Amino acid sequence: MKEIFERRSIRKYKDIPVEKEKVLKILEAARNAPSAKNRQPWKFIVLTDNAKREFLDRMEQGIEREKSAPALPGSAKGITDAVNTLRIMRQAPVLIVILNTNGTSFFDPVDADGRMTEICDTLSIGAAVENMLLEAHSLGFGTLWIANTCYAYKELTEHLDTDSQLVGAVALGYADESPSARPRRSLEEITEFRS
Ligand SMILES: Cc1cc2nc3c(=O)[nH]c(=O)nc-3n(C[C@H](O)[C@H](O)[C@H](O)COP(=O)(O)O)c2cc1C
Repeated sequence: MKEIFERRSIRKYKDIPVEKEKVLKILEAARNAPSAKNRQPWKFIVLTDNAKREFLDRMEQGIEREKSAPALPGSAKGITDAVNTLRIMRQAPVLIVILNTNGTSFFDPVDADGRMTEICDTLSIGAAVENMLLEAHSLGFGTLWIANTCYAYKELTEHLDTDSQLVGAVALGYADESPSARPRRSLEEITEFRS
């Protein structure tokens, strides 16, 4: 369990490739996560080298387009962070793109049933991603969980040629920093005991 407490989001990576068998171990951890109705609504696309560059070039185009023609109404306040995340993604040697195979586009309307299903599937994928981060940490890697792909949703789903929902990505590599633990809300603040 020490991985839970030692893991950090890593935003600086060494220029060292990641061994494929270790990527497979990380995906094996993801695959063993629990999922709602055991739907296992995930797919992982591992990008390195040219495939990663092409994906990130498309993400950059999407972020640029989002500045002048926003598809997400509140995106202006998140763009600077997205540009920063893109820079980190370029540095990491591996990018694992995360898809919800049961999900639909952000831009499609959803009724209450669909929303419930989407919440359950997103939670399931979150469990898989956390497993990935913890296994990666135990193997000596740094990771960054990324949702800022959302600013280029249309560009990236077109680029991947997928109807699945693009949930985000995980940057993976050997860490070139060792940040301190980020603050957490106290147990008292987040917990209630009722009897
Ligand atoms: C769903 C999710 C999406 C995130 N997206 C990003 C992102 O796009 N860019 C980024 O730099 N960090 C991102 N993070 C990392 C958080 O900023 C980080 O987990 C948080 O600040 C706590 O720091 P720690 O992971 O080192 O404990 C994301 C984390 C989660 C769980």
